[in-house]
Amino acid sequence: MHKDDDNHTYIHSKEGSVTTTKRADVQTRQGWRSWLGGFFTSSVGLKWLMALTGIGLLLYVLVHMIGNLKIFLGVDPTTGEYQIDLYGEALRDLGGHLVPRTSILWLFRIGLIAMFGIHIYAAAELTARNLKARGRGRYDHKRDYEAVNYANRTMRWGGVIILLFLLFHIADLTLGGANAEFVRGDVYNNVVASLTRPAVALLYLVAQFALAFHIYHGAWSLFQSLGSVNARYKDLRRALAVAFAATVFIGNTAIVLAVATGYIS
Ligand code: HEM
Repeated sequence: MHKDDDNHTYIHSKEGSVTTTKRADVQTRQGWRSWLGGFFTSSVGLKWLMALTGIGLLLYVLVHMIGNLKIFLGVDPTTGEYQIDLYGEALRDLGGHLVPRTSILWLFRIGLIAMFGIHIYAAAELTARNLKARGRGRYDHKRDYEAVNYANRTMRWGGVIILLFLLFHIADLTLGGANAEFVRGDVYNNVVASLTRPAVALLYLVAQFALAFHIYHGAWSLFQSLGSVNARYKDLRRALAVAFAATVFIGNTAIVLAVATGYIS
């Protein structure tokens, strides 16, 4: 920070090898809005966006898996319908007669799409910056650089696999275009019709491996992005990340294997 002859204050900040200088009084006038804008376009802000949307997506994946496990409950004795079909219907009918049908579900869907969109945007932007910064000697220690780079690359490719899986998955079980026997609302039979195709079961399994790694590394690094770097809790953070990834992996894989092997038919 320094003052010029007119008594204006200047702030110097160093990012990478580039030094930027801003006049402090101009910065103050721009106010909160520009601070927020500036924050979320900074690398730290983008990491926060990734972490916050990551938490939302983790919750979604966990709740989705728990809901899908209803496939193991079979038929509801009072209505004679599959429990998972009743669950799907309850989601579409959230809010009952108070709101138009599926409107609450659509609010959730919009939130989910926004989270996916922001998560992918932040990842792409950080990747672009990372590639640009490569070779500028950011990491003093070559091995550290390689370790970080390896994890980033695996996260990127894992993310792409999950995205491709998701596009197929929605075409398969929500829209039905990728499933010749699809019947809207008939969730149990749609899942069975889908996962009894060996290639599709294999695709779902591969996606679960990619997802498990992505969740493990994502959950682990989101603590860091949000500033929890205390070495004392390192083992706890790792244990939480492993537990979360393993839970989702086991739950989802159990469904795929149960249907693919004919245990659920
Ligand atoms: C073996 C694992 C999975 C099974 C059996 C499964 C099952 C289903 C079913 C049956 C639907 C349609 C629900 C309906 O229309 O009523 C669905 C939708 C969906 N699934 Fe999955 N799913 C699995 C894994 C995943 C994973 C890993 C993700 C995310 C990474 C995911 C994300 C979604 C999304 C975003 C939708 C659309 C939700 C909507 O239309 O409201 N699913 N899934």
